[in-house]
Amino acid sequence: MANTSVAEKFRSMEYGAAPEDPANSLKWLEEHRRSFSHFIGGKWKPPAKGRYFETADPSTGEKIADIAQGSAADVNAAVKAARAALPRWQGLTPHMRARFLYALARQVQKHSRRLAVLETLDNGKPIRESRDIDIPLVARHFYYHAGWAQLLEREFPGDTACGVVGQIIPWNFPLLMVAWKVAPALAAGNTVVLKPAEFTPLTALAFAELCDEVGLPPGVVNVVTGDGTTGAALVAHPDVDKIAFTGSTEVGRAIRRATAESHKKLSLELGGKSPFVVFEDADLDSAVEGLVDGIWLNQGQVCCAGSRLLMQESIAASLTKKLQARMSALRVGAPLDKTTDIGAIVAPVQLERITGLVAQGVAEGASCWQPDLPLPAKGLYYPPTLFTNVHPTSVVAQTEIFGPVLAAMTFRIPAEAVELANNTAYGLAASVWSESVNVALQVAAQIKAGVVWVNSTNLFDAACGFGGYRESGFGREGGREGMREYLEPAWLRKTRPLRALAVRNQRRSQRADAAPLIDRTVKLYIGGKQVRPDSGYSLECRSRTGVLLGQAPLGNRKDIRNAVEAARRAGQWSVATTHQRAQVLYYAAENLTQRGQEVAARLALAVGSKQAADEVRLGIERLFAYAAWADKYEGAVHSPPFRNISVAMNEAIGTAGVICPAEAPLLGFLSLVLPLVAAGNSVIAVPSASYPLVAGDLYQLFDTSDVPGGVINIVTGRPTELVKVLAEHDDVDALWCYGEEELCAEAKRLSAGNLKQVWTNEGRRINFSSALEGEGRWYLDHAFQVKNIWVPYGE
Ligand code: NAI
Repeated sequence: MANTSVAEKFRSMEYGAAPEDPANSLKWLEEHRRSFSHFIGGKWKPPAKGRYFETADPSTGEKIADIAQGSAADVNAAVKAARAALPRWQGLTPHMRARFLYALARQVQKHSRRLAVLETLDNGKPIRESRDIDIPLVARHFYYHAGWAQLLEREFPGDTACGVVGQIIPWNFPLLMVAWKVAPALAAGNTVVLKPAEFTPLTALAFAELCDEVGLPPGVVNVVTGDGTTGAALVAHPDVDKIAFTGSTEVGRAIRRATAESHKKLSLELGGKSPFVVFEDADLDSAVEGLVDGIWLNQGQVCCAGSRLLMQESIAASLTKKLQARMSALRVGAPLDKTTDIGAIVAPVQLERITGLVAQGVAEGASCWQPDLPLPAKGLYYPPTLFTNVHPTSVVAQTEIFGPVLAAMTFRIPAEAVELANNTAYGLAASVWSESVNVALQVAAQIKAGVVWVNSTNLFDAACGFGGYRESGFGREGGREGMREYLEPAWLRKTRPLRALAVRNQRRSQRADAAPLIDRTVKLYIGGKQVRPDSGYSLECRSRTGVLLGQAPLGNRKDIRNAVEAARRAGQWSVATTHQRAQVLYYAAENLTQRGQEVAARLALAVGSKQAADEVRLGIERLFAYAAWADKYEGAVHSPPFRNISVAMNEAIGTAGVICPAEAPLLGFLSLVLPLVAAGNSVIAVPSASYPLVAGDLYQLFDTSDVPGGVINIVTGRPTELVKVLAEHDDVDALWCYGEEELCAEAKRLSAGNLKQVWTNEGRRINFSSALEGEGRWYLDHAFQVKNIWVPYGE
């Protein structure tokens, strides 16, 4: 190459080598003698057990540095430091915290090149990416969140920080994940213990040093390095108030289980198998460039990588040809070379995983194509790979490979594209290519994913929330919704644990002088019809004084299953206009007003006449409130710093199970079910265990108020049994469980299999009579999930 003439270069258009000089980063490593302790309480602290592990350069296999292996003792020291730092950090004004975040953004920019090179050395990603994508986004995140820190009290009134936050991050975007986690946590007033991934700890440690340089109070950010056992110790630590995790779905499940019995708030950003949908009217050349960014960015080691290519049949052959030509021009090689497109795979275990899954794909009969590209002789490299003839259920179409491997399938019509796109357990992101704005937006709205890029891919911005549906996890990072993950209502801190209420459906002696009552029997309410329970059994329901009030059906697994099916069939409710939903709720308010006295009279036998009258009065108010919210809790349009807008839509989650509180049979039911219904979800509700007979009044109300059949289903029974069925049911997308501590823990633990979002009262007593505690945005925030649809504009 060295003596190739200029004329020859013009002819071949071959790139020459353009290596980045790593001297500055190497100097930094030498200053630390290539050995790193934990960063705890503002100081470098050697590991308590004296153990270290090595981090290596994946492009050469050579060791870069020794890294402290964190033990439970190290985690404990870090959590203590974070707890100790909390009063001082929270004692600062929001403006002062904003200054620190701003200073961190500036410091990242000042050291951007050193950080970019360090990232590439440790991770193997091309320098072009770490320099032009990762590090600028890190700075942007701190700038953006400096803004939220400044505006905190005005924009999140009544909220308070969670406290000490444990954050566990993966190796694919090491410093960017530090920023995604640390910036909102600090802006909200939390202190942090961060555990970087074992393959890529260096930039998190460099960031710890930047925290020190800007004078961040000691203990506000602590970094404990180590492997999964270190992460598990952080998750298990009793003095951590929230866990934020990004990584594999398997570990996400383990964390869900491990935190079930604690009151730790949890957000999970997990894997994906994102569809990249190309319609026949798309600009195919742009789509091919989109694929380069979609699946070959960061060697495909991207949670939202467009790893499933769905092509409309009519253009499949031409798109495949263009794609193969483009793949043949990709450059796989030294990550520090500025002309490299595809760098090194992060670690031998990841390379083995990719190789193994590709072999499985071939064994299953898919056609595997790889361009004839030179790969470096040394280091962990894998060529860009295209699978065609892929069956939608095959391993390469369903499993997250996390490598430069694309699985292509075809579809005929938009409905089929949507069906294929949604045909995985995940729901993180999607990319839709069509020159027809109608088709693109219609399909974007139907794909179950937290982010959809129209005619673009893998765009990120701090203002635009990012996060998944289904097994891709729950919670969002970025935007206002990302801030909410690190905040909670201040009043919640003052609530007391819910003491066991006497469940009055147990047999008790009847007082001799009890007034004779008409024995009532209610039924289940499924799909808009009153139905008998599958079990053929009933629960006795008694008054405060032990008088038998009636029988409520003992619902079981089969009844819940039927109710879930009915709720699924009522999916049209989610696309009803917000005006229509408001109308139905107003109508129900009108009907409850009409029938208020008789409902209150019956309820009075269970809860006393004062509470019954209050529940009816406030129930009408709550119906009004959610009719009002239905068309006012709206999304947003973000203007990220690209030629794009991002439409943040508040979308219904789908079907939601609700275990209603025992203590306020009518008002508790309405307080939980109405926000979900106003948001467009369909609900399977288990009414108050102390007075399930309320179901009779409720279904009469919904029946006469034009609530479409299946939108609200009511299954009476024992919450301890039904919570299990709802938690484990794969077609229940969210579970709200209001009850005592053990019941809440059960809901969280049992939902780990399908990772549905679970929201509980954490065993606390919520005062539903108060609008502050019982109604409003806090409920709606949990009833919707935000989907960001990115739409480009301009030529
Ligand atoms: P991982 O989920 O094991 O690691 C992510 C982080 O969690 C690391 O910091 C790790 O030390 C920590 N961790 C591991 N076990 C833990 C536990 N029991 N409790 C608490 N923390 C724990 O991911 P890994 O093994 O590095 O990659 C395996 C696969 O996961 C990849 O092939 C890919 O499919 C997926 N993955 C997905 C990511 C995403 O962004 N969605 C990121 C990294 C991996």
